[in-house]
Amino acid sequence: MTNEELTALLNDMSLEEKVNQMSQVVGGFFDDDTVITGPMAEMGFTEENIALSGSVIGSMGAETVKKIQKAYMEKHPHHIPLLFMLDIINGYKTVFPIPLGQGATFEPELSEKCAAVAAKEASVSGLHVTFAPMTDLVRDARWGRVMESTGEDPYLNSRFCESMVHGFQGEDLSEEYRIGACVKHFAGYGAPTAGRDYNTVELSEHTFQEFYLPSYKAGIDAKAALVMTSFNTLNGVPTTGSKKLMRDILRDELGFDGVLISDWAAIEEMIYHGYCVDKEEAAIRAAKAGVDIDMMTGIYSNNLCRLVKEGKISEDLVDECCMRILELKNKLGLFEHPYKDADEEKEKQVILCEEHRRLAREAARKSFVLLKNEENILPLNKNEKTAYIGPYVNSRNLMGSWSIIGEAKDVKTIEEMLKQEDLAEHAVFAQGSPMLGADVVLEGFTEGAQTSSSTPEEEVQMLEEAVKAAAGAKKVVLCIGEDRLQSGEATSNANIQIPEIQQKLLDRVAEVNENIIVVLFSGRPLDIRAIKAKAKAILEVWMPGTEGAGAIADVLYGAYNPTGKLPMSFPYCVGQVPVHYNEYATGRPHVEGKDKDRFRSKYLDIPNKPLYPFGYGLSYTTFAVSEVSLDKNSMKDGESIQAAVTVKNTGTCAGTETVQLYLHDVAASVVRPVKELKDFRKVTLQPGEETSVEFTITEPQLRFLSENHIFESEAGVFEVFIGTDSTTANKAKFTLEKQ
Ligand code: IFM
Repeated sequence: MTNEELTALLNDMSLEEKVNQMSQVVGGFFDDDTVITGPMAEMGFTEENIALSGSVIGSMGAETVKKIQKAYMEKHPHHIPLLFMLDIINGYKTVFPIPLGQGATFEPELSEKCAAVAAKEASVSGLHVTFAPMTDLVRDARWGRVMESTGEDPYLNSRFCESMVHGFQGEDLSEEYRIGACVKHFAGYGAPTAGRDYNTVELSEHTFQEFYLPSYKAGIDAKAALVMTSFNTLNGVPTTGSKKLMRDILRDELGFDGVLISDWAAIEEMIYHGYCVDKEEAAIRAAKAGVDIDMMTGIYSNNLCRLVKEGKISEDLVDECCMRILELKNKLGLFEHPYKDADEEKEKQVILCEEHRRLAREAARKSFVLLKNEENILPLNKNEKTAYIGPYVNSRNLMGSWSIIGEAKDVKTIEEMLKQEDLAEHAVFAQGSPMLGADVVLEGFTEGAQTSSSTPEEEVQMLEEAVKAAAGAKKVVLCIGEDRLQSGEATSNANIQIPEIQQKLLDRVAEVNENIIVVLFSGRPLDIRAIKAKAKAILEVWMPGTEGAGAIADVLYGAYNPTGKLPMSFPYCVGQVPVHYNEYATGRPHVEGKDKDRFRSKYLDIPNKPLYPFGYGLSYTTFAVSEVSLDKNSMKDGESIQAAVTVKNTGTCAGTETVQLYLHDVAASVVRPVKELKDFRKVTLQPGEETSVEFTITEPQLRFLSENHIFESEAGVFEVFIGTDSTTANKAKFTLEKQ
């Protein structure tokens, strides 16, 4: 449709039609024959609302979607097509590693490919929009949704966010296999107080602008079609009703002109926040903030028409929101092709095809982080007697809690994979323990959580079998970790250790075998001091997805040399969170090794440093990084400096290192983080091979929110760090001169 045609359509629509475009309902309200069913009334919807609502959440499958679309459009006064939306977070049916794992690849281009595959599978299944990427910056491992983020760093998150948006959307939304991306959750949702989901967020302007805003901005600059509001308050105001956030910052400063959708029932929740007295006020506040779509409450559809008639909000406001929704439908080409890519035959060809599975395996192995490898215990030799022990040895639940379409039946277990790949001739297998003890109840989870169904006697027997297997083996691979439903939405945890029953398994196995390799599954950084003390090697594999087991085999047996780097610090213990590398110095910095120096910024009982820092990850080979050399020692605005190191593979096998560039502004009008990631590069080297890695430093990289409340750089000295993780002390200095 041309813009003129769209405007003509809008002008011809009744107020009721326009208002209902702004309402999103679950697909369950439409049955196969598009008769409206489901508990609409309890949720505040009428049949009339549903028959006119502009979009659907949670219906998928080419046949279903086409049926709903056809019947809906036939009845709609202007035959306007519905939008079909769903959370396709780390894959559709082919499931990739959770986003935190993808962050560990330090390879945004790979995530772009994963997003494109997810878009392809979703689009042939009839979907038009995904509620991804989630780009909330995260520092607190107690918060279960850290698994959906790419981590603690604004630069890394920005790179991933823009890549994922490109992957989902391509250049043109109307192209085949493209779906709209939705940057979420705007804004600050990743910083709930005390790590408790949905909790209050308090961020200074400085912290918000410097750390939290950049990745949303990157997604918007990449032309994401939608943005989602967040559940939280930000500095006292629910984001969903915040004109300052949604009008001044999102629309005016960041230039977002796409569709703004509320999170699920977030408009209504403004009442429970104590911000609105009733639904009518909630409708007014959200509409005035420019929220175009009300996800899953009847608040817009039940109130906006009346509010316009009573003059409490203007019809122009409704037109503005409705137009953005129509424009999105138009960009997707739905007016001409209301079924877009929905195609039952293509579903059969495309979904879980070999090419997609191969990419899932590549992404999984690249996401694994080798945290420890004492005595080079890894890689394994398939001729050594190895005991595979733990609840994850035979689990198909490798996909993470937001993989709502992925099915366990499409996933191979570690045991099956090792047998299939001929790696199991000298391996024995034992479960050792259930995933969770019988005493652990994941409240509100009706299915999927792997709580114990075994009796205490069976558990003792399981444990004894595992101990026996461990005692008779040269090495033990212990496959343990969080249950997949222990991380994700509404899974905040004050205790971030592996389940107690698995800890007991580790303790018992360690009594009989000292050659333990832990393959650790988790959706978040955990307190793994006890594991570090007992295992010679630790491989963090997150929730690795459909092809996780094959990827684990690749890494354990050396077919793939690990390359992953932590996108989020692993705290020493929970008392240290939120812990992140890009902190500020204090007036009394703690000096490493001077623990008796009392009046310093430090803990009495634990170190300041996390157990494993941001950017950290080992390889089966070793690398040496030379001193940092700069092509000049000062620069002016508009100039650049080349910073270089030579990286050498000093080990015995080929490997890939991620070389990381950090900057530090030594003194400024506002204190600056001790280090900030500004660039990174992956280099692959044969044993003995070396290469020069160069970074270009430019003035915009030195900007920050200064005392003048604008982003600008200031003259002075800067430190340039180049190394293999965020603790590197390998540095040079230069001066920025201002005319
Ligand atoms: O996209 C999600 C969001 O992240 C959490 N609330 C529900 C939405 C739709 O499923």
